[in-house]
Formats: sequence, C-alpha cells, structure tokens
Amino acid sequence: MKNVLIIGSTGQIGSELTMKLRGIYTKGNVVAGYIPGAEPKGELKESGPSTVVDITNAQQIADAVDKYQIDTIYNLAALLSAVAEAKPQLAWKIGVGGLFNVLEVAREKGCAVFTPSSIGSFGPETPKDKTPQDTVRNPRTMYGVTKVTGELLSDYYFRRFGVDTRSVRFPGLISYVTLPGGGTTDYAVDIYYSAAKGEKFVCPIAAGTFMDMMYMPDALRAAIEIMEADPAKFVHRNSFNIASMSFDPEIIYHKIQEYCPDFRMEYQVDPLRQGIAESWPNSLDDTCAREEWGWKPEYDLDAMTRDMLEKLRARFNR
Ligand code: SER
Repeated sequence: MKNVLIIGSTGQIGSELTMKLRGIYTKGNVVAGYIPGAEPKGELKESGPSTVVDITNAQQIADAVDKYQIDTIYNLAALLSAVAEAKPQLAWKIGVGGLFNVLEVAREKGCAVFTPSSIGSFGPETPKDKTPQDTVRNPRTMYGVTKVTGELLSDYYFRRFGVDTRSVRFPGLISYVTLPGGGTTDYAVDIYYSAAKGEKFVCPIAAGTFMDMMYMPDALRAAIEIMEADPAKFVHRNSFNIASMSFDPEIIYHKIQEYCPDFRMEYQVDPLRQGIAESWPNSLDDTCAREEWGWKPEYDLDAMTRDMLEKLRARFNR
C-alpha cells in the first residue's frame, strides 16, 4: 500500500499521473495537491482526496503528509523553461525553495520523493548526441539551473539523511490531456492540436533542431516504475537519463502528413525558445536507466502520432 501526495496535481504531468496512481494504489490515499486557482476538476476531483499544497509553504506540505499518512511525494511543481526565463526569481522559489521544503518534510516524516529533472539540465558544453548519463551539465537557463540544483540537493538528502529520493530527466512530454505551459518543447504538442483541428501550424522552433521527446504514457510509467524499483541495483538516483525518440520539426511534420496529407506548417522562429533548444542535447543515452531499473519505452514517433491524432480528432469531431 502507498499513500501518495502529488504536488502540482493539475499540471501537465500531475493531472494524468494522479489518475494513473489512483488506478494502482486503490487501497491507499492518492492525494491531489493543488494551488488556489488551479483546483482539480471533473474526474480528478471526484476520484479521490485533494488538498491545497503550495510548495513554497512547508507547513502546508507537512500538514498534508500528516493528515493522509503520506509515504511518497511526487513533486511536480515547476515553471517550464521559457516562462522561467520571464520569471527567474519565481522559478528558483518554486524549483529550489519548494524542493527544499519537500525534502525537509520528507526527512522529518520518512517519505520517499520523486522530483523530475529534464533535458534542460544540460547546456551547450554537453555532448549533444547520445548524451551520457554522467557528463558536464552547465545549463544556461534558470529552468536548467533549478533542475541541476534539484538533482544535487536530492542526492545530498539521500546520502546525508537517507531520504529515498529518485528522479528521471524527462524529455519534452507529449500528451492530448493537459497542455504544457511555457516550455521549449511545447511545439511538439501544439502541432498535433493544429493538425487535428485542420489548421496550419506556425512552428516556433527552426528546422534541424533536434530534441528528445516522449509520449506521456511512457513518462508516467517511468515515474511509477522508478519509485517501485528495487534500489539494490541503483548506482544513480538523481537523475536518470530516459529517452524514447528524438526529432526536429520537419520529421514530426512529415510524420503527421502521412495521416493528414493536407496539413501545412510554416516557420516563425521564437528567438528565446530557439536559443534554449540549441543549448539542449539532441538525444540522451538512457543505458543506465535500462540497466539499473529496467527502463524501456513503448512508443515511437509513429505509434505516438497515430494515438495523438485519433484522440484529438475524436475530441474536435473531425
Ligand atoms: N518540456 C520542458 C520545457 O520545454 C523541458 O523539460 O521547458
């Protein structure tokens, strides 16, 4: 049995992860933590407990952990990369100050903690192709700075205090359920919405810019499997490279055209997002995750494209 608190339960990952965890830990509490203004709605609200947890408020985290006897915290609160450049102080407050609050509560109350890291933890000096697990990080974005700090802090709390911290470096995550907000990889979600609605897509990322991407079902499995894994084989903890596909805008555009021949795309490159994308790797080497806890992706670009278009066309009646 697990009693789980999801901080950021109404966000892009949280909204789906909460529902999936509720399907698995049916005998425990899976508590949707949210901030005022981002309340759970519909199925997410009806299917289990929810409570206000602002990650910048350590007492609120501690109260929720006590009330629901939480043993595992999924810490999904963050500002994505482009919005973090607009609000760097807030990005630090949530990404690092918030994580510190979570780790302190976890230390005092004996919780395990999952905190996502990202391809954004790498920078321009990082080897671009098949980026190794252990290599230079040196990100240039505030998003990346918070992610690297989070990796270091999480490993520190494990080594120093024995807090069971675990993490993966997520690629850009693609899903038809909840939109991401303010990320550099968001174009790879938006392009499917345009295609499914029969609209032309204006791409903010230049042709030839490769980034790692992943379909949400694989990302959710990664977040659950790493927390379920026997840590005996762990050499790493914070944070594991995981990967499933890497493409540039041309590749995803042509893949979508296989299913929507009339779909059209033009470029209007956003200098902020383009600069961030160019500082990130093209593709990560996920050998350590495969060896240390059995990570294996299920979706490639073709399988993801078929599923995304089917689900979104049904939603838009097309
Ligand atoms: N999807 C994130 C972003 O684009 C990267 O992890 O900011």
